[in-house]
Amino acid sequence: MSALTLEPILKGRRSQPHMLIETLLDVQESNGYVSTEDMKIISRELGVPEIEVYRAANFYKALSLKPRGKNVITICAGTACHVRGSNLLSSQIHGLLGIGPGETTADGLFTLEQVNCLGACALGPVVVLNGEYHDHVTPAKLKALILKAGGQEKQAPGKKRTPVKASARKEAAACANGKKRHSSGKALKS
Ligand code: FES
Repeated sequence: MSALTLEPILKGRRSQPHMLIETLLDVQESNGYVSTEDMKIISRELGVPEIEVYRAANFYKALSLKPRGKNVITICAGTACHVRGSNLLSSQIHGLLGIGPGETTADGLFTLEQVNCLGACALGPVVVLNGEYHDHVTPAKLKALILKAGGQEKQAPGKKRTPVKASARKEAAACANGKKRHSSGKALKS
C-alpha cells in the first residue's frame, strides 16, 4: 500500500507509537497482509523504530508478511494433535490442494498455516478455517470444510476477507496476560 492508500488508517494515529498493533491489524484487514513498504511507512508515521514494527508484525499470527489466500487453513501440529492424526490432515491438504505449510494455492483460494498449539489440546486434532475453530477433525470432515469453502467462493466472488481484528485482539490480550493463546473459552465448533 502507498502512503496515500494508508492515509485513512494512519489518520489520527501519527506520532502515537502505542497505536502500532491497531494500525498493523487495520492494514492486514484492508490488504490481506502487511508489506515491507507498509512497515516502513508505519514506522515513519507513528514514530516506531522499523525493527519494532517488523518484530510486532512477525510475532502476531493474525498478521502476515506475504499475501494469504482468501481461505486460511490453520492446522495444529502440536503433540496432542499430532498423536491424533494432524499430520494426516496436512498430507491430505497437500493431496487435495497441492500446498504445504506456509504456501498458497496458485488460484489464491487457500493458504495453509501450521502452528504448534491452539490451546485446545483435549479436542484435537484442531483445525481453524478462516478464524473458525473445528475440533476432532477427521479427513472426511476436513475435506467437507475445504469443499464448502471452495463452493462459497464460487457462489460469492465478492466476499470480503475475514475480519481479523477481534481474534487478534484476544490473542494480544491473552499474550499480555501471560496466558496461552485461544484459551479464553471461545466455543469450538464440531
Ligand atoms: S496440541 Fe493442538 S491444540 Fe494443543
